[in-house]
Amino acid sequence: MKIIGGPSSLELASKISKLTACPLVAVNTKRFPDGEFYFRFEEKISGEDTLIVQSLYPPQDTRLIELFMILHTVRDLKAKTIIVFIPYLAYSRQDERYLEGECLSASLMAELLQHLGADSIYTIDVHNQKVLDMYKIPAHTLTASGELAKYFVSQDLKNPFVVAPDAEEMALKRAETAAKTIGAEYDYFEKKRNRHTGEIVTYSKKVNVKGRDVVIIDDIISTGKTSANVAKMLKKQGARRVFIGVSHALLLGNALKILNASGVDEIVGTDSVVNSYAKVSVAPILANALKAGKL
Ligand code: R5P
Repeated sequence: MKIIGGPSSLELASKISKLTACPLVAVNTKRFPDGEFYFRFEEKISGEDTLIVQSLYPPQDTRLIELFMILHTVRDLKAKTIIVFIPYLAYSRQDERYLEGECLSASLMAELLQHLGADSIYTIDVHNQKVLDMYKIPAHTLTASGELAKYFVSQDLKNPFVVAPDAEEMALKRAETAAKTIGAEYDYFEKKRNRHTGEIVTYSKKVNVKGRDVVIIDDIISTGKTSANVAKMLKKQGARRVFIGVSHALLLGNALKILNASGVDEIVGTDSVVNSYAKVSVAPILANALKAGKL
């Protein structure tokens, strides 16, 4: 198999290449003066099994057109098989028509990726399984919770406790996975989001966190409000330190300010989103999944 690193995930692609012993393909990319993307393979890929690695963190639309151009070229040049690894699968949160007349962007993504020739896709902690059910090709979600938890195991936590910031099935599963790895108990909070204003209300709940180090496990930090609401409640109930382990640390707008003000001690993200919080790599997760599927 040959690995193609997209511009958003070059380091990640290189890590996957090392872990799987599959070579990276030489490519040439640039931007034209008007901003348009240029992509060229500098070696033959026809007849090859290929893996494209491109995460779709902001600016999503830029990342998307890069992915579409790579995928289109791989298919055009007649690669034998095309697996696409998109750690952060943008446009997943609009997975149903919450308000009449809305665009089902998650379904649009499925149509486009299939149409462009992907044989299968892998992502990390997809927002909702429903998103992957929209694909006609095999579409898998892998979780970063175990790798995030390993980071916390190395942090010498005191009497640790894991928390899911909402009660969705996948949020509970992520918390359970992390709790098992850390060797801790877990609990969850419940929240409600206003579809018009985006405002988030987290319902208060008594949790047994006095004097303990608490790890909030979530898939995404966007505005930071979900985790901040929970962090505030945990600190109020006597938590010693509050950490966040998050698969996709988008940290948009005032998110950092909001999280710092809530008393969060450390944010730990993955290289699904390349920023200074990406302290954990998702490379071993994908490498193991590929090995399990026999490369
Ligand atoms: C919600 O359903 C997700 O699991 C995240 O908790 C949410 O997307 C985080 O968003 P924000 O940081 O804007 O509260």
